[in-house]
Amino acid sequence: MHAYLKALPKCEHHIHIEGALMPSLLFDLASRNNITLPIEDVAYTSEEALLDRYNRFTSLDDFLGYYYTAMAVLQHENDFEALAWSYFKKAHEDGVVHAEVFFDPQAHLERGVSVATVIAGLTAGRTRAEKELNMSTMLICCYLRHLPQSAALELFDSSDLQAAITAKEIDGVGLDSSETPFPPELFKDVYAKSKSAGLRLTAHAGEEGPASNIATSLFVLGVERIDHGIRLADDPKLMMKVARAGTMLSICPLSNVRLRCVKSVKELPIPKFLETGVKFSINSDDPAYFGGFILDNYCAVHDEFNLSPQQWESIALAGINGSWCSSARKSEMLQLLEVARKALPS
Ligand code: HPA
Ligand code: ZN
Repeated sequence: MHAYLKALPKCEHHIHIEGALMPSLLFDLASRNNITLPIEDVAYTSEEALLDRYNRFTSLDDFLGYYYTAMAVLQHENDFEALAWSYFKKAHEDGVVHAEVFFDPQAHLERGVSVATVIAGLTAGRTRAEKELNMSTMLICCYLRHLPQSAALELFDSSDLQAAITAKEIDGVGLDSSETPFPPELFKDVYAKSKSAGLRLTAHAGEEGPASNIATSLFVLGVERIDHGIRLADDPKLMMKVARAGTMLSICPLSNVRLRCVKSVKELPIPKFLETGVKFSINSDDPAYFGGFILDNYCAVHDEFNLSPQQWESIALAGINGSWCSSARKSEMLQLLEVARKALPS
């Protein structure tokens, strides 16, 4: 089944590009860019020590500390291109045919790296992936919820972001970082402005926070997709509503275990979602930090729930239909899915 899962044409909808920064590239860029990582933290003494620390996150906030610290090494356009390319190459090996990639411009702006630099590097990586790997890719700008909405509005209004929107280098917006203290409704205005600019809308909700954050994201922010959303199962009425509306969740199993949102993959409401008809895709979130890329997440789910090839096909299909690419690209991916289905040993 693992070979079949690899061969399935996969769409990734929940990958933070900064979360694909493997310790090897992190140390390499730190040395190239003369960046000193925090010497008081023994985790930064070697790749092994860092990976070991990544194995012991206690919460979303504990992870976010390492995630934001590591970004210090990303300084130049080339660094962002190298990061994006390293992710696209690995995703392609795992059978990803379409990737919608998050990035956190505010975390780079705070360090004096312009939005134009970040987007130029990521766009170069995307162009290469589209040409050399035949992957389709999109870019989703995330607002950081631990910063005030005024900062998100300032980013939205900035000439760099407006230029990227006009150039169609950005396809949508998302909302990430610490969820519990910063509910979705705080970002109502910036979501309304983003929608008026023609951007697609998604938001992290129901990861560490309650199901009510899923409802507010849908009905106050007006998102068309929910990132994580595992707490949806706590509210059966809302779950039925989401199922009926066909709204897709982008689930990240290994992330949820590493960040202690669940004790193990077994606790994830995947069978319940399949039963109720809630659409979802399976994703890696921050693969450098959570012990696996997308295929590892597919395999972990399979090893726990032993899904049938038909169930896997329905998951891959939901991922294609829930993508934000053109219908022509969706048709190509549907054909790839048909090829994978025919190759399945009976
Ligand atoms: N949740 C919230 N914020 C994030 C995440 C996540 O899983 N990854 C990167 N920023
Ligand atoms: Zn995420």
